[in-house]
Amino acid sequence: MTEYLITGLGSFLIGSIPFGWLIAKSKGIDVKKKGSGNIGATNVYRVVGKKEGALTLILDLLKGFLAVVLFSLIYKHDAYVPYVSSISVVLGHDFSIFLKFKGGKGVATTYGAGLIIYPTASMVGMAMWIAILLGSKYSSLAALLSFTVSTLIALNSNNYMVRIVFVVLLGLMIIRHRDNIVRLFSKRENKINI
Ligand code: G3P
Repeated sequence: MTEYLITGLGSFLIGSIPFGWLIAKSKGIDVKKKGSGNIGATNVYRVVGKKEGALTLILDLLKGFLAVVLFSLIYKHDAYVPYVSSISVVLGHDFSIFLKFKGGKGVATTYGAGLIIYPTASMVGMAMWIAILLGSKYSSLAALLSFTVSTLIALNSNNYMVRIVFVVLLGLMIIRHRDNIVRLFSKRENKINI
């Protein structure tokens, strides 16, 4: 039980590091007050710049990936630790302890953790995310559709924990994108300039 507590809290703390907010802050911009107000790569790209957006994407993805790797290495013997870590690191990003529990939407961090939990599903999703983004210019649409496909792939896994984790992560992603979903349906969603 202690290992789940430590994994959960440790991953939440790692996920809480608001890279996008920090990168924007270093340029004198409060990303929470500009554009969509999100701290993720899309909004950093939108309101700060291409390089900063790309850096945010890489660091948010890496924190998901590395948190799961770290706790899986610490608790090698425990098969459930990677799943606890995956959900906790995304929760940390979405409800950052450093931003009074107001974080991001978890797309990059979800893919980072997903790369460990089910690499094929995540890699297909990431490729689709890029394709839909380039085709539509809607980052939210790209994230929601691509991760739905990842989850459908993961639902074919024989491992019930993989199925549960992907469904939970998709649920979280949908909840965090509820404003985007409303805007997409009312044709008011912001496109990004790629
Ligand atoms: O990763 C977040 C993205 O899906 C939407 O971002 O800033 O357009 O709400 P944003």
